[in-house]
Amino acid sequence: MVIREARAWHHYGVSTKQAFLRRRDPATQSEGVVAGYAQTAQRWPSQPLVRRPLTPSELTGPSDVLRRLAPVRGDLAGYGEKRALGQLIHIRARVVDEDGAPVPGAVVEIWHCNAAGKYIHPNDSNDAPADPNFYGAARMVAGDSGLVELRTIKPGAYPVPDTGGWWRPPHVHFSVWGRIWLSRLVTQMFFPGDPLNDADPILQAIRDPEARSRCIARLAPIASGPRNALVYDYQIVVRGRGATPALP
Ligand SMILES: [Fe+2]
Repeated sequence: MVIREARAWHHYGVSTKQAFLRRRDPATQSEGVVAGYAQTAQRWPSQPLVRRPLTPSELTGPSDVLRRLAPVRGDLAGYGEKRALGQLIHIRARVVDEDGAPVPGAVVEIWHCNAAGKYIHPNDSNDAPADPNFYGAARMVAGDSGLVELRTIKPGAYPVPDTGGWWRPPHVHFSVWGRIWLSRLVTQMFFPGDPLNDADPILQAIRDPEARSRCIARLAPIASGPRNALVYDYQIVVRGRGATPALP
């Protein structure tokens, strides 16, 4: 984590913020590998991170992530006969730095399962129906205010195979890229008040409650958004001791 932070600061042209490079409190970070969920061991470093000098190629390129990763429109819900099944929601995710300043140009990838809890992925063995009108992934670029907006449907909960009854609460996966490949945050957004949140080993792998709360979106006032969609605000802090915890 510390190394990733240091690279991110170089990326944003800040070289003198050594004071912020103190190690983050481990309680504010995920423990990473969650017992009983085999995939987490494949998505998390198996050894402690090591410091090493940064090279110019790491700090300068590629300068334009979107030349290699094409944007995908921020509408997963569709319309009319092509409308995905489920509760329409509107996610307003804002990418900010440790001072709350927007990070324009950040590339934000988002993916989640359909309303029945099914991903379009060959490894998803959940016996739930696919939705032909729902694919479930988008890639967007943060604007000047650091904001990306996604129109989609609320994902369902799904059972984790071979765990004896663990259900993942509804959640949305996020991957945030800076302008270089090495500045990347992968995490998950949860929905406020879901009873499965408190029993989810992925979310509970962040021991500090305040840090955990950074992974939970906020329901916006009902009258503030589109008439037929619930609006969720979510802030992604990409660096600093108050950063959004990474989740597998
Ligand atoms: Fe998931």
